[in-house]
Amino acid sequence: MSTESSALPTSRRVFLKNTGTIAAATAFAGMVVPHVHAAENNTIQVALVGCGGRGGGAAANAMSVKNGPVKLVAMADVLEDRLKATYEGLSGDYSAKMDVPPERRFIGFDSYKHAMDALKPGDVVIMTTPLAFRWVHFTYAISKGLNVFMEKPLIADGPSARKMYALGEQAKAKNLKVGVGLMSRHSKSLIELHDRIQNGEIGDIILMRGYRMAGPLASAFSEKWPGTGSELLWQIRRFHSFMWASGGCFSDFYIHHIDHCCWMKNAWPVKAHAIGGRHYRGSNVDQNFDSYSVEYTFADNTKFIMDGRCMVGAVPMYHSFAHGTKGSAIIAKNGDCEPPSSIYSSQAPDRKNMTWQSKDTSSPYQNEWDSLIDAIRNDKPWNEVKRGVDASVATSMGRMAAHTGQEISWDEMVNSDHEFAPDADKFTMDSAAPVLADATGLYPVPMPGLKGRREY
Ligand SMILES: NC(=O)c1ccc[n+]([C@@H]2O[C@H](COP(=O)([O-])OP(=O)(O)OC[C@H]3O[C@@H](n4cnc5c(N)ncnc54)[C@H](O)[C@@H]3O)[C@@H](O)[C@H]2O)c1
Repeated sequence: MSTESSALPTSRRVFLKNTGTIAAATAFAGMVVPHVHAAENNTIQVALVGCGGRGGGAAANAMSVKNGPVKLVAMADVLEDRLKATYEGLSGDYSAKMDVPPERRFIGFDSYKHAMDALKPGDVVIMTTPLAFRWVHFTYAISKGLNVFMEKPLIADGPSARKMYALGEQAKAKNLKVGVGLMSRHSKSLIELHDRIQNGEIGDIILMRGYRMAGPLASAFSEKWPGTGSELLWQIRRFHSFMWASGGCFSDFYIHHIDHCCWMKNAWPVKAHAIGGRHYRGSNVDQNFDSYSVEYTFADNTKFIMDGRCMVGAVPMYHSFAHGTKGSAIIAKNGDCEPPSSIYSSQAPDRKNMTWQSKDTSSPYQNEWDSLIDAIRNDKPWNEVKRGVDASVATSMGRMAAHTGQEISWDEMVNSDHEFAPDADKFTMDSAAPVLADATGLYPVPMPGLKGRREY
């Protein structure tokens, strides 16, 4: 089952699964301005905004760092049951590091403000809602002088990418530390593999392949909205079904392989073309395809193929490879970035030709938090936003190519004007959803070739 299994009940089991460990995560040299200190008593206070599966996992990682005290002091969500379940789940193992009385548990679309108002400049806010709210919450965090951990993906459309690039620069100018949950970059196995590839152990990379193929996952398949209650909140519960909330299963599930393959190449692709379709959607009305195959092209004309599929009974595959002029590598042996990574003198991963295999088994989910807190405590430059937006743009570019049936370039993706949820900062509990079901309960779906460069 995937780490994106938000359909699972929030429980200690889920925290442990999602609490997944960089020593050398990329940090960007930022402008030098007066730095923001953690709270005077040396405790870094944390607020959790988006109390689902990953939010609980990230809060657990935050409270598990070894370099000084961290305390969870506020929680925010739009769904009371989610906040309650995560509060109770965390209380089992982490009660000594939690001080979240009922008056600091906030519900509603403005709950993020109340939770961040409970912090002091230099504390940390965790943003683990679906991506539609990332720029909204990040804007407020910057205004409050807060450090941030935010989950991937950061955007699903061009206008939001432009906003997030600008916000990332604002955060850097204020010397705020920002971690982004692309945990492959914090896997010590992948860091060593990256070093070895840079040292030429597989020659020049000419092809990479990523596969995430499984049965239906998380909330990527949705039957019709029951017609009662808030359609907006129903879509938020089922965010993998809706492009505005998550970029769909493509953005949410495939970004890890797209990110780490591009990292191995040290480049982002310049264009993508793709195929995909809704072959076995049955009575489901979500906006996803059930199969995607994207061919990314880099500036040197080398390729990266990303295949994604959610189909029952078809062969499951969940790993990634790099092929070079002198050999090949298994990047993720399994899952988003699970070890061991390995190198071969041949193009096939035959054991007899294996020249290196990684040994580290530490958790990239914990490593990313250890590094973020170290950067805060020791005032080291730490801002993963540009890289996080770049990975999200590369992912969106492949998705858009599949959904439109057009070749999409990097510049077209960044500069596209289709904003999926422009009013995400104005939502209330009574707001209409950004996409509405028609009289028959159907939502607009991508129709390659028929809707020009609009995805739906
Ligand atoms: N890095 C990883 O391996 C990894 C794994 C899982 C999830 N994620 C990412 O974490 C994010 C959350 O995923 P999840 O699986 O935890 O989903 P989830 O549905 O379990 O949790 C999301 C929570 O956010 C809440 N929420 C939604 N909109 C909100 C708003 N405007 N204000 C406050 N709360 C709001 C929801 O009610 C829900 O409780 C996604 O972006 C996902 O891609 C990353």
